[in-house]
Amino acid sequence: MASRFLILCFSPLFFFFFLAVAGAQTNAFHGEEKVFDVRNYGARGHLERNNTLAFTEAWSKACQWTGGRSKVYIPAGEFYLDQIAFYGPCKSHITFTIKGTLFAPRTLYADKKAEWISFRYVDNLTVNGGGTLDGRGSYSWPLNDCNKNVNCRAMAMNIGFAFVRSSRVNGLKSLNSKMGHFNLFAVEDFDITGVVITAPEDSPNTDGIKIGRSKNMHISNVTIGTGDDCIAILDGTTNLDISNARCGPGHGISVGSIGRYKDEKNIEGITVRNSVFKGTMNGIRIKTWAKSVSQTSVSKFLFENIQMIDAGNPIVIDQRYCPHNQCDSSGDYHSHVQIKDVKYNNIWGTSKTRAALMMQCSKTFPCQGVELSDIDLVYKGNGPATATCENVGGSVHGKIVPGDCRM
Ligand SMILES: *[C@@H]1O[C@H](CO)[C@@H](O)[C@H](O)[C@H]1NC(C)=O
Ligand SMILES: *[C@@H]1O[C@H](CO)[C@@H](O)[C@H](O)[C@H]1NC(C)=O
Ligand SMILES: *[C@@H]1O[C@H](CO)[C@@H](O)[C@H](O)[C@H]1NC(C)=O
Repeated sequence: MASRFLILCFSPLFFFFFLAVAGAQTNAFHGEEKVFDVRNYGARGHLERNNTLAFTEAWSKACQWTGGRSKVYIPAGEFYLDQIAFYGPCKSHITFTIKGTLFAPRTLYADKKAEWISFRYVDNLTVNGGGTLDGRGSYSWPLNDCNKNVNCRAMAMNIGFAFVRSSRVNGLKSLNSKMGHFNLFAVEDFDITGVVITAPEDSPNTDGIKIGRSKNMHISNVTIGTGDDCIAILDGTTNLDISNARCGPGHGISVGSIGRYKDEKNIEGITVRNSVFKGTMNGIRIKTWAKSVSQTSVSKFLFENIQMIDAGNPIVIDQRYCPHNQCDSSGDYHSHVQIKDVKYNNIWGTSKTRAALMMQCSKTFPCQGVELSDIDLVYKGNGPATATCENVGGSVHGKIVPGDCRM
């Protein structure tokens, strides 16, 4: 056997066989992915240099590449970028690899586009590389007056995806956005994983991930500490699964607010599981406007295996939402948003506020099918935690602490 193999090795036949295999591999490799390095289009790592044109050119070459998959490559280093939008459709799968750090302009309002960097109308996009988007928000936070001015001028968010399908972000850091960090609108079959989002606890409106009108999304292994919502789930979002999220500081994961505007769409099929909230102002919160013009529904939710560490208001349904006194008196309005089929299972830990479980549903559209099982939330201060349940229909299973909630 061994001698026959040796003979084969020295035979010309084997030699050709070897060449054929090696050749096929090299071809496959080249056909696999064509790399467009932004440096070849004039990008330079220097804080004063405007790299926008170089990035745009690298993208359009990669996007129009017809020889197979393509990749835009941003090497390690620091690159200054003005507002930029990457448009599809592209010819094939496209990867955007960021190794270095991209720096935003000091001030950038959201007048023309909502985000500093955006991807639109692209399919089969992968953004990866583990690099950083630095929004340099500290220059613009002092200009933000949105907490007292309803018509305030919005600043650009760090990165946006709109009308993007079958795509993913895998490994990216987003730092100090001027307003929100990630903005997802009308995306479909979209995964976010290995993302780290950071802004100071007192930075205004620095939401981590905002999602609207999108479907079939997975968010996993994310670490989000900001001055606003960890993840904000807005109208028209369906089939979203969030797992292994670490939120805090910030305002927690929120659904809504919904009900304020006409033409809003339902929110349906949201799961949050295996996650931790640490030092957040709220935990998991559903909020609908007291003064609502649209009659929408929020349904089929599962919140499961969630640990609260020193989180304020760990479980909240607020159908009297009316910030900055925009309702003459919020008690006079009853939200028209129907909340139904919401399950809370195995939620435990410590609450920073006495109100650990607070459900204030609408008088005209009471919550239906709310299920609580195995809840164990302890108040960090003196005395027991409390539970409030107004206009809630549903059932209770297993151990519930605090347990003074009647359905
Ligand atoms: C940066 O370059 C882009 C593209 O050429 C241009 O539109 C933009 O105005 C430039 N920004 C600055 C601050 O010069
Ligand atoms: C995206 O991927 C799907 C599935 O592989 C394919 O059918 C579709 O043609 C691709 N589109 C682009 C633009 O690459
Ligand atoms: C989670 O994300 C972090 C940050 O990108 C990464 O270092 C880590 O390997 C990821 N963990 C898993 C289990 O994927």
